[in-house]
Amino acid sequence: MTPQPGRGQVFRTALGSSALFAAGFFAAWVVKDMGLAAGARFPVRDDGLGPGAVLLVLLLLAALAFVSLMRAFFRLANGLGAQIANLEENAARLSGVLEQMASGVLVVDADGRVVLVNRAFEQLNGVSRDRVIGRSYKEAVRSMDLARLVERVFRRREPAHDELRWTFPRERILDVHAVPFRRGTTGALVGVVAVLHDITEIRRLEQVRREFVANVSHELKTPVTSLKGFAETLLDGAMYDEKTCRAFLEIIYEESERLSRLIQDLLQLSQIENRQITLRKGLLSARDEVADVVRLVAHTAEAKRQTVENRVPEGLRVYADRDRLRQILLNLLNNAIAYTPPGGRITLTGGEDADSTWLTVRDTGPGIPREHLDRIFERFYRVDKDRSRRSGGTGLGLAIVKHLVDAHGGRIEVKSKPGKGSAFTVHLPKPEGTEGETGDR
Ligand SMILES: Nc1ncnc2c1ncn2[C@@H]1O[C@H](COP(=O)(O)OP(=O)(O)OP(=O)(O)O)[C@@H](O)[C@H]1O
Ligand SMILES: [Mg+2]
Repeated sequence: MTPQPGRGQVFRTALGSSALFAAGFFAAWVVKDMGLAAGARFPVRDDGLGPGAVLLVLLLLAALAFVSLMRAFFRLANGLGAQIANLEENAARLSGVLEQMASGVLVVDADGRVVLVNRAFEQLNGVSRDRVIGRSYKEAVRSMDLARLVERVFRRREPAHDELRWTFPRERILDVHAVPFRRGTTGALVGVVAVLHDITEIRRLEQVRREFVANVSHELKTPVTSLKGFAETLLDGAMYDEKTCRAFLEIIYEESERLSRLIQDLLQLSQIENRQITLRKGLLSARDEVADVVRLVAHTAEAKRQTVENRVPEGLRVYADRDRLRQILLNLLNNAIAYTPPGGRITLTGGEDADSTWLTVRDTGPGIPREHLDRIFERFYRVDKDRSRRSGGTGLGLAIVKHLVDAHGGRIEVKSKPGKGSAFTVHLPKPEGTEGETGDR
């Protein structure tokens, strides 16, 4: 980069040029005087050469001074141009960064007028920037809490930090830092800058974790309390009555089974979540996999006089890890059998679209009310708690199914209406490069 002339340099050049000009003038004057004096003593021919030469020298020097002054001005003008371009580039870079920031930024001047907001702030505040710039922050900011925080910074002249809950335009939890903005040299207050981080998702996840711990404790407490109670009653004398002793031991056995199932399910969920399971995916015959799982539950379905029908087309291929796919289907089938009353019908169908293969488990059970549909994939969520517990459910089955389907890069859907049965459909992506192939049926 070429060094740009500063104001000092231009000043020096101007001074130099003026000195040069003055010196020239002085020299010319002296020469002229000498000429006049010499002319008095030795009268020269009056051919006009004397004063003409003086004028020429004078003009030459003046032109020289002018040229060097102009050069300095041009260099200054160029330098200023480059500096302005530089400043503009920096400003563009800064506003680009501000615009791309995920956090909201609000800048208020010393009179309390909004001078800058970025896109994130615009969205959080729900008002376009041209309606807030230039207005008092108390009117421009929709949250009273934020206005109060900014006011506090103006009053106390020190940084402030708070967690604010916004209900409008959307429900949000914001972590806000507001700081006074001072002029570098004098330290005078120029305004206040507030930065808003959206921490809604973090707080939601913390809440989920808290609920999960509470749920696990509750789920573990129930069977443990019952184990303890029955064991105590047995020890208190019930063990001497053979019939009671057997009945209680059976309950103890069932409860311990449930406890171990719960612990296994929890371990498995945490393994899937921590990506500790590796999927060995391959192209499988969907119909054969369904047939194997149906065989596993045939006995339970028969006991309830339910019919289970495999209508998955021959030749339909599904790209999945065999054990995990069976686990998914087994969970869905077990639910269908458990929640469908005796004599019901359970049907399994399958098909494919451009990029995935789907399998559906449909039952003629009670269906799931609409308000529960979004939540049944959550851990421990049950529509009818007592009924699910009675059937030995842990409330983790569908959570595991969802995680396994996600691990395959697929998705699960449920369609259900109370009284009209339920249909759970799993979509699993086809292997890369085979999209659109129909396969043999
Ligand atoms: N086919 C279905 N018909 C009606 N309700 C169902 C059906 N499948 C699931 N549900 C509802 O969704 C809830 C969650 O199911 P999920 O499989 O996760 O847990 P669970 O069956 O109670 O216990 P488990 O962990 O042993 O499977 C069930 O408690 C039940 O209320
Ligand atoms: Mg279940």
